Order: sequence, then C-alpha cells, then structure tokens
Amino acid sequence: MTDLVATARSLFAQGKGILAADESVHTATARLASYGIPTSAEMRRQYRDLFFGAEGVERYLSGIILFSETLLEKGSDKKLFPKSLAARGIAPGVKVDLGTEPISTSPHEFITQGLLDLPERLAEYKKQGAVFTKWRAAIRIDGDQLPTSAAIHENAKRLASYAKEVQSAGLVPIVEPEVLLEGKHSRARSRTVLEEVLGTLFSVLEEHSVDPASVILKTSMALAGSESGKKDTPEEIAEDTLAALMSNVPRQVAGIVFLSGGQTPDEATANLAAIMRKAKELNAPWPLTFSYARALQEEALSIWKGKEENAPAARAAFLARLAKVSAARL
Ligand code: G3H
Repeated sequence: MTDLVATARSLFAQGKGILAADESVHTATARLASYGIPTSAEMRRQYRDLFFGAEGVERYLSGIILFSETLLEKGSDKKLFPKSLAARGIAPGVKVDLGTEPISTSPHEFITQGLLDLPERLAEYKKQGAVFTKWRAAIRIDGDQLPTSAAIHENAKRLASYAKEVQSAGLVPIVEPEVLLEGKHSRARSRTVLEEVLGTLFSVLEEHSVDPASVILKTSMALAGSESGKKDTPEEIAEDTLAALMSNVPRQVAGIVFLSGGQTPDEATANLAAIMRKAKELNAPWPLTFSYARALQEEALSIWKGKEENAPAARAAFLARLAKVSAARL
C-alpha cells in the first residue's frame, strides 16, 4: 500500500470521522454573525480553538479540514494547530479551492476557482503540515432546468485537474461535488442529479488518470430540497443515497464521507446511521463516515456566543454531538 493510500484509509478509522472546519473568511464571518458573534481574525482563531482544543476530540476525529489561515495559527496550547492536531493523531487537511463564482453562460450555476497557482500553494500547505486536501464544487438543482450538463462537466474537469495535482504533490484529495439542498426538488430528483454528477465525475477522473485508491469522495445525501415541504425518512434517504453511490462510485475509491449540507444535527446523525445500516446490508465496497461542519458545530456555537465563560459548556455540547455521530457511524 502506498503512503497516500494509507493516509486516505486512516481517515476511516473505526468510529471516527472528519470535522470540516474550513469555512473561508467570508463564510466564517457570516456563520459567527448568525450567532451574534462579532468577527475579527482573533475571533476566528478562538472559534477554531473552541473545537480543536476540546479535550478528547481525538476519540472521534481522524482528521480536520482547515482553512489556509488556520494552518498558521496557534491554539491555547501555544502550538501551531496542524502540529497540535497531528500530535493527537488527528490528520490536518486543508481546503484548497478558492470558492465559487457564477458561470457566465448560466448565471444561476457555479464554477469553482483555484487551479491557477495550485501547485505552489500545495507545496506551501504541505510544508505547513497538511496531509490531505479538499476541493468543493456546488451543483444547484432547479426543477428540470438545472443543473446543466455543461456545469456538471466543467466542475468535474476542475475536480479532476485538482485531484491529479494533489496526488502529484503527495497529498490525498477529497473531491466534493456538493449537490445543494436548497430548492423545491423531490428526493427522486436529488438522486437523479447525484447519479449524473457522480457518474460524470468518476469518468472524468479516470480520463485524467487520477488514482482512485487514494481519492476520498465527499458527497451529499439524496434527499428532498429544503423548500420542498417534504421530510424524507432516514431509511428513504439511505436507500436512494446508496443506490446512487453503488451504481456510480468505483469500488477502488479509498472511502466516502458525507457533508451535512443544512440538515439539523439530529437529522444528519439519524441519516448517517440509516446509511451505515443500508451499506452493511448491501455489502458496500468502501468505508463510509461523516465530514460535517454545521451539524457538528451548531449546538456548540449557540452556547458559546463568543464568550470565554461559555467555552466549557460549548465544548461539552460538541463532544456530546461527536459521540452521537460516531455511534451512528458504528
Ligand atoms: O463543503 C462543505 C463542508 O465541508 C461541509 O459542511 O456539513 O455544513 O455541509 P456542512
């Protein structure tokens, strides 16, 4: 087994998953503001430290995806975050895309930026301690009109170019074609789109000679849109999600992680548990786990409110949610 494959597989250690803590400055500012927390670079550092410094997180986390500025910051233990995480057996990763922008020919859809100076940035991130990376594409559903095949294909091409560069740099790529939850679509439509997106992505990855054995797929679940007025059961979600994955994801892929995408912490936990049960029943060929941001952070942030005196209770809420999600994964 190569080092890259071993690193990718280690992220699927028993009972563990990945915390996505890679909100860009823009997203972190909006996230903190939504909890009434004023923002500054120092507040963002404290926000990261709240989660990374919680005692015992290494029982549940195999890796944490960081934003680039966090690679250079220190926690309350006075150690650089990547060093402190690695010392506790948590692999540091980094988001390397530079965000999305509207596609000029289809302005309600998005394309992800960041390929231009990627090799130089990867060399820096590696020196700073990152061992894996993430690139997110955002796919919007709107009735039968969106997504267009052109948007799916262009995003897949960029994910493949990114993954190839990352493997050449000696890092593990997480490819994340997020099918957005926002919209009025049904679960059936979500599944159809997920199938097209994953089918296209894996054929383009193959065309670009990306080695699937060290690739991690980060995916949405197949579920009805947030404005559909419909709530699917965990079993329905598990059935359609696994159907899309089983018919489109090569068995050689190192593993699959799920994003929470706007589900509540309880929904994301119950849905993961149902997916794990279904995967076992179907004898799915890859390991599966969570890579949540909002579903792991939400409860803690609403307690913390940016105040030092609330940090112990906020960290306890975070650990309690991690314990539930980790149990769901088992
Ligand atoms: O890119 C999306 C994040 O990595 C996962 O965030 O769990 O809040 O959807 P989420």
